Formats: sequence, C-alpha cells, structure tokens
Amino acid sequence: MALSYSMVSFKCFIACISVLILSFSNVEARQKELLSIDYYYYSCPQLYDIVRDTVVEAINNETRNGASLLRLHFHDCFVNGCDGSVLLDDNSTFTGEKTAFGNNNSLRGFEVVDAIKAKLEKVCPLIVSCADILAIAARDSVFHLGGPTWDVRLGRRDSLTANRTAANVFIPAPSSNITVLKSNFADVGLSFKDLVSLSGAHTLGFARCTTFRPRIYNDGNISPSFAQTLRSKCPNVGNDDVLQGLDVKTPSHFDNIYYKNLLTKKGLLHSDQEIYNSNKADPIVRKYSRDVSKFYRDFAKGMIKMGDISPLVGNQGEIRQNCRVAR
Ligand code: HEM
Ligand SMILES: *[C@@H]1O[C@H](CO)[C@@H](O)[C@H](O)[C@H]1NC(C)=O
Ligand SMILES: *[C@@H]1O[C@H](CO)[C@@H](O)[C@H](O)[C@H]1NC(C)=O
Ligand SMILES: *[C@@H]1O[C@H](CO)[C@@H](O)[C@H](O)[C@H]1NC(C)=O
Ligand SMILES: *[C@@H]1O[C@H](CO)[C@@H](O)[C@H](O)[C@H]1NC(C)=O
Ligand SMILES: *[C@@H]1O[C@H](CO)[C@@H](O)[C@H](O)[C@H]1NC(C)=O
Repeated sequence: MALSYSMVSFKCFIACISVLILSFSNVEARQKELLSIDYYYYSCPQLYDIVRDTVVEAINNETRNGASLLRLHFHDCFVNGCDGSVLLDDNSTFTGEKTAFGNNNSLRGFEVVDAIKAKLEKVCPLIVSCADILAIAARDSVFHLGGPTWDVRLGRRDSLTANRTAANVFIPAPSSNITVLKSNFADVGLSFKDLVSLSGAHTLGFARCTTFRPRIYNDGNISPSFAQTLRSKCPNVGNDDVLQGLDVKTPSHFDNIYYKNLLTKKGLLHSDQEIYNSNKADPIVRKYSRDVSKFYRDFAKGMIKMGDISPLVGNQGEIRQNCRVAR
C-alpha cells in the first residue's frame, strides 16, 4: 500500500515536472512563433528597401562596414537575446555593453544603424525595433558581400536595459579552447555545428593585433611562415590596433576560404584554429572547405537560430526612437 502510494506520488511528480517543463518550453516556442518574416508588411513596407540601400551605401563607403554589422547582431544576440541591448550608449547614470571586454574599442557600425533608424523614423515612426534592424542589416551585409541570403524573422522588441557583466560572460573570447566555445554556444541554445558554421563569419572583417598576438607567439598549431609574417606586423609589444584580415586571403568576400585557411593552419585567432585541431569539428571544417553550398545553407540556418535567441515580444521592452537610448 505504502509502496503503491509512493509510486503514485512519484508518477505525479514526474508528470507535474513534465507539465512544468512543457509550459516553459511553450513560452519559448510561442515567443519564437511571434517572430515572422512579414511582421512589418503593412506597418512599414519600405523597411527592407531602406535597410538594404543603407547597408549597400555603407559597404560602398567602406567594405568593412558589412563585417561590423554582422558582428553587431552576433554580440546583441549572445547577451540576453537579440534585443538591441548592445546599441545602448553609456551615460552618467547608465553603463551598457559597449565597454565589455569583447566590445570595447572593437565594435563598430553604430553610425550605420543610426542612419537606418533615422530614415525609418521618417516613414514609419516608432514601428521598427533596433534589434530587427540589426538582424536585417546582418543578412543584407552577408548577401551583398557574396554570401547566402535567408528570410529574416522579425518582431523583436528593444530592451529597456543592458548588462555589461553578462556581455563579459557570454561573448566568446579568442583565447578560448573548443570546449569553452562549445559551452558558450550551448549557453544560448546553439549547437556544435552552429559553432562551426557561424565561425565562418570570420570570412569577413578584421581583427586587431592584440586579439591574435598570443596565437602567433605561443601556439604550436600554426603555419610557421604565416606566424612569421604576422609577427612582423604584430610585434610582442606595441601596434595593438594594427589590423589583419580574419580570412587572410579574402576578408572582403563572403566565401569558404576561411575553412581552407584552417586546413593549412592559417586561422588568425586561437579560437578559429580550435575548430580544426584534431577534434570532432574537423570533418565539418573539411566539408565546408570543399562544399561552399553546404556552408552557405548551414550558415543561413545558424543565423536564423541565432536570431531566434530569447526575443522580447508582445508588450515586453519597447520600440526605441533612437537606438542608443532606452526609454
Ligand atoms: C566562435 C567564437 C567567436 C570568437 C571568439 C570571436 C572573436 C572575434 C574577435 C576577437 C574579433 C576581432 C575583434 C577586434 O579585433 O576588435 C572578431 C571579429 C569579427 N567577428 Fe567574431 N568571434 C566569434 C564568433 C563570431 C560569430 C558567430 C560571428 C557572426 C555570426 C562573428 C563575426 C565577426 C566579424 C564579422 C568580425 C569582423 C568585424 C569587423 O571587421 O568589424 N564572430 N571576432
Ligand atoms: C557614407 O559616407 C558619407 C561620406 O562620408 C557619409 O555622409 C554617409 O553617411 C555614409 N553612409 C553610410 C550609410 O554610412
Ligand atoms: C575601454 O577603452 C577605453 C579606451 O581605451 C579605456 O579607457 C577604458 O578603460 C576601457 N573600458 C573598460 C571597461 O575596459
Ligand atoms: C547581469 O548578468 C549577470 C551575469 O549573467 C547576472 O549575474 C546579473 O544578475 C545580471 N544583472 C541584472 C541586473 O540582470
Ligand atoms: C579549456 O579551457 C578551460 C578554461 O581555461 C580549461 O579549464 C580546460 O581544461 C580546457 N580544456 C582543454 C581540453 O584544454
Ligand atoms: C542614460 O541611458 C539610459 C539607457 O539608455 C536611459 O534610459 C537614460 O534616460 C539615460 N540618461 C540620461 C541622463 O541621458
């Protein structure tokens, strides 16, 4: 009797936990369902044209702007979800994420976001969130620089706050090993494969000497001639801000040469080479280096998954008028 009673309560316990877990995951699912590709179809039909034209203008001004916009969306999404928190400026009473380790003196593209937002405020004021602008600008940057395209899911709202400590915790560091990188991605619900495909974003843009110095002086898993060349650009002391293409061959073109570089131990960051270093990621890297369409498909899927991280929806947050300031 006592036994069956405890069996019953045990079953109930399992059932109740399941119900709880299910209802939590339903909240997540419902939040994601609220994102849709036609979210602004009636409220701001000019949205896609405005973002694309401004992104193209910014890239024509300076190719690197495309890379910088892609990275902004990543650094937004990894810290409390894609909520525009990365865009908030510091002021006398507020410290945002812009001075976090991975962001300080590093993130760029804010003026391009301001230009897009200013144009949108003229035609559809207080309609389009800054978080959504980042998602579209990232997609358009990749496409304009020769990469894949995808349907961007929209309807995110903007945060009322930001958290620098969280940015320090959740933004992956270039010194990290594969285990840590994998757990950084798992923390936001992204898989090992997402880590490998999204790292391919480093087919674009530049890194400062300070971010790859430890690699070119200390790492064993690096092409000796490559290390030698970089050491002359990036000495042991000084030249911290000297730039080097993350894809040492074609940093202005979205392609799969980043993965080919890894095969010859020419990844720029320690974290880059970690995904081709005798571990489970190696076959995926080899696949992407041979099959650019497969890389493009997985990259697009990864970007959509990344864009789905914990959006604010419904009456959460706000639609900012100025992406740098919360209500
Ligand atoms: C896997 C972990 C990652 C690490 C450790 C990492 C680290 C870095 C570092 C250190 C830089 C150079 C910053 C500087 O010197 O100021 C950089 C640049 C960049 N990252 Fe990543 N990153 C990672 C993943 C990603 C992802 C997932 C994306 C986008 C989907 C991305 C997009 C970029 C782009 C486009 C640049 C160049 C930006 C520019 O030229 O302005 N990264 N990253
Ligand atoms: C492009 O450069 C011009 C001239 O510097 C500047 O006025 C304009 O705002 C830039 N456009 C974008 C979108 O960055
Ligand atoms: C950010 O960079 C500036 C300029 O290099 C520096 O003065 C400041 O201390 C840095 N902030 C943080 C929080 O590291
Ligand atoms: C900021 O993020 C840190 C690290 O995730 C967390 O411990 C802290 O509670 C957050 N602060 C606020 C005000 O949410
Ligand atoms: C990866 O880095 C972490 C943190 O530095 C360390 O604890 C761990 O032992 C490293 N793992 C491997 C396999 O090197
Ligand atoms: C400081 O920034 C926060 C966040 O954007 C904003 O809510 C607040 O109004 C700003 N304060 C001042 C004095 O500008």
